Order: sequence, then C-alpha cells, then structure tokens
Amino acid sequence: MSSEREFDVVLYGATGFTGKQAALYYAQNVPRDQVNWAIAGRSRDKLEHVRNQLGEGFEDLPLVVADSSDITALRELAHRTRVVQTTVGPYAKYGEPLVKACVEAGTDYVDITGETHWVRHLIDTYHARAERKGVRIINFCGVDSIPSDMTSFLMAREAQEQLDEDLGPVQGLFNLRGGGLNGGTLASIINMMESGQMDQLEKPYLLNPGEEQIRSLPKDQKGLRWDKEFWTWTAPFFMAPVNTRVVRRSEALYRHAGQSYGSDFSYQEALWVDELIPTTSLTITGMGLLMEEVMKQPAVINLLKTHGPKPGEGPSEEVMTNSSLSCWFYARSKSGHLVKGHFYSQGDPGNRVTVKLLSESALTLIHEREALPPAFSGGVLTPATGLGEPLIARLRAAGVTLACRVELDK
Ligand SMILES: NC(=O)c1ccc[n+]([C@@H]2O[C@H](COP(=O)([O-])OP(=O)(O)OC[C@H]3O[C@@H](n4cnc5c(N)ncnc54)[C@H](OP(=O)(O)O)[C@@H]3O)[C@@H](O)[C@H]2O)c1
Repeated sequence: MSSEREFDVVLYGATGFTGKQAALYYAQNVPRDQVNWAIAGRSRDKLEHVRNQLGEGFEDLPLVVADSSDITALRELAHRTRVVQTTVGPYAKYGEPLVKACVEAGTDYVDITGETHWVRHLIDTYHARAERKGVRIINFCGVDSIPSDMTSFLMAREAQEQLDEDLGPVQGLFNLRGGGLNGGTLASIINMMESGQMDQLEKPYLLNPGEEQIRSLPKDQKGLRWDKEFWTWTAPFFMAPVNTRVVRRSEALYRHAGQSYGSDFSYQEALWVDELIPTTSLTITGMGLLMEEVMKQPAVINLLKTHGPKPGEGPSEEVMTNSSLSCWFYARSKSGHLVKGHFYSQGDPGNRVTVKLLSESALTLIHEREALPPAFSGGVLTPATGLGEPLIARLRAAGVTLACRVELDK
C-alpha cells in the first residue's frame, strides 16, 4: 500500500445516521495534522450540510462524491485513500462495488455490516484475491461483532499466555441498557428478509472457510435457560446468529494459521436476564419466537416499511447518550481454570458504541499497520484476524473496557 495516497481514510456514507456521527467522532477526536480524512457520499449538497455541522476548522474538509452504482467513481475514491470506512447500507444492496474497487486499488476497508449472507458471498468472491494482493477487507466492525470477537480472542490469548493452556467453550452474555432502532438497520433487515436467503442465517459455520463443519454444535438458543456459572436466566439474543458466526470464522482462520484458540473451543451467546422470576423475559422470548414466524409474512414487511423508522432516522441524542452495552464472557481452560471476559462501553450499541468501534478500527489500520496480525495481511477478514491486539489497545485508550481475568482457583 502506498503512503503517497491523498487521504489516510475516507468516510463513505457520511450523510447517513451513523455516517454523520462518524464524521463528528473524527472531528472531535482525531487531530487533522495526524490523520488526513475526507467525507464521501452520493450527494454534494448533503455532504456540504454535514461538513457545516462539524464546527469551526472544517470548512476545507475535502468532499468526495460517488454513487455506489458508479464503479468509476468508486475506483477513483479507492485510489485516493489508504483506508475506506463505510456506513453505506444495506450492504447486500449497495456494498459490493466498493469492496471490488478496494481490492483492485489495494485499499484497506472496514464496515459495520451484520449481513452474514452477504459476507459469505464476499468470502467466496474476493477472499483469495484480497489475500494475494495484501488487502484487508474487514467486516463486522460495529457492535456486531467486535465485543464478541475481540473478547473471545483476548480470552484465548490470555489462557495461552497465563496458563499455557487451550481455551474451552466460551459463553457470552449481553446486557443492553437502552438504545433504539435505526432506519438503516431496519432497511438491512427487510432487505435480508426479501432476499430469500434467511435460511443461510441458520448455518452455524456460515462464515468458516469452505463452510467447514468443525463439530456438531447445539443450535442457537431458542428459549429461556438458567446459567449456573453466572447464576442468572438467559434468553435468545437477536445478534447471536451474527456474532457466533464471526467468532467461529476468527477461530477457524487462526487455527488454519497454526494459532488455534483451543481444540475444544466453541462459542455461544445469549441475552442476560436481570430478574430472578423472569416474567418480562419470558414474554420477550415468546414474542421473539412468534416474530420469527410473523416477520416472514409480506404484509408485516410492508407494515414495517410504512411505519418503522426510515433510512436516515434513528434514536434521539438523549437515548444515544444515556444507553450502554455490557457483555460478560466465561470459559474454562483445558485443566478447568475459569477465564472471564468483560466488554463495556457507554452509549447506545447501534450508534455511539458502533461509531467508536468502527472509527477506531479504521484508525488501527492507519496508525498500527506494522503491529497488525502478521498471519492475515490480506483477505476477507474479521476484526480479531484483521486487527487483533492493536485494536484492543486502541479501544481501551478510547474508553472501552475490554478485560480478561484468569482465576487460578478451579
Ligand atoms: N453493525 C452495527 O452495529 C450497525 C449499527 C448501525 C447500523 N448498521 C448498518 O449500517 C448501515 C448504515 O446505517 P445507518 O443507520 O447509518 O443508515 P442510513 O441513515 O440509512 O444511511 C445510509 C447511507 O447510505 C447512503 N446511500 C444509500 N444509497 C446510496 C447509493 N446508491 N450510493 C451512495 N450512498 C448511498 C445514504 O446516502 P444518502 O444520505 O444520500 O441517502 C446514507 O449516507 C446499515 O446497513 C445498517 O444496517 C450496523
């Protein structure tokens, strides 16, 4: 990759709900004399409007205009920058030409997709080419799936370093406080439902190389379960079908590179239920199961399109600021020591937290290039394989708790 590119990073989709917040994140946290960044989108007027909202000192921030269907404009964009960070979605609808342009131009790429069926397509089409060219295409850099992916990676490393042992099966528990749904996220969900590829989501190893089946796994959690390790009820978690596949891809890629997490490693996650008598959670679980069926009906999809939040919309400032995400993880090492992981960030998961995770992922590619995992210098990658330990350090410096404790008492 040339260091003579005009920009270090281009924020594509800067006019959208998360994209605007990403531009603000850079404006407030990234000195312009250290990182040369630009904002990009399909409309110059909208980009100018976003630039005007960034405050003083950004009047000359470069704007790049490119529609996602204009491959020539995307090629030009990709050639002008070292890294692209994109929030243009639904990714399955608009995302592929940019990935293609980045692979061709030798430009690293990060996104916040949770559309696993689309990433399966990217793996099949671009992984080998990106690997040969030394281009990192890194998906899932938002709340799905950095907390799950990076904490399980950290736990495996700590078990090896502190105990010289393999890590066994990891269970993750998510506790979401507040938050809301973006119109862009709803559009991605609807696009996925209409794509006819919903059955893909059921595959436990959808993202593994060649969809290899390592061992038979229990299906994604469907009902309430008592977790005796954390002494709490747990419920099915709507992001688990994404996060579990991403963690499994990371483990598989590390294993293929001779750096396995552990021969018994597997990964599952669920929603933390606070109450001892889980009436509310029982209702939520029941509704979730019912919704799975209901959401398949075209009439329901039309209702969501009409009455749900629209692209460009999302939760209020107050909700985004006052929400938080807390995730707990546990596993046993081979000889039975308890290994615990914790991930915490203030802000609503789908916006404040996601924007921080995505932007710090792009900044890791810019600032920590020499320290990135050497086994994965190119390919369609996950956060743990593409960014590894340098991302953990950056997230901690940005105020995220990402911790692991090994308990030597069995
Ligand atoms: N993983 C996570 O944790 C997470 C969290 C939040 C969102 N997401 C995903 O991130 C994506 C964005 O979410 P959002 O809430 O920011 O959505 P949004 O507000 O609808 O923004 C979408 C962006 O895409 C742009 N766009 C649409 N069509 C385009 C085209 N043909 N060419 C160029 N740009 C185009 C829009 O431009 P205009 O402004 O010109 O329309 C806008 O900038 C969605 O796919 C969503 O599912 C993931």
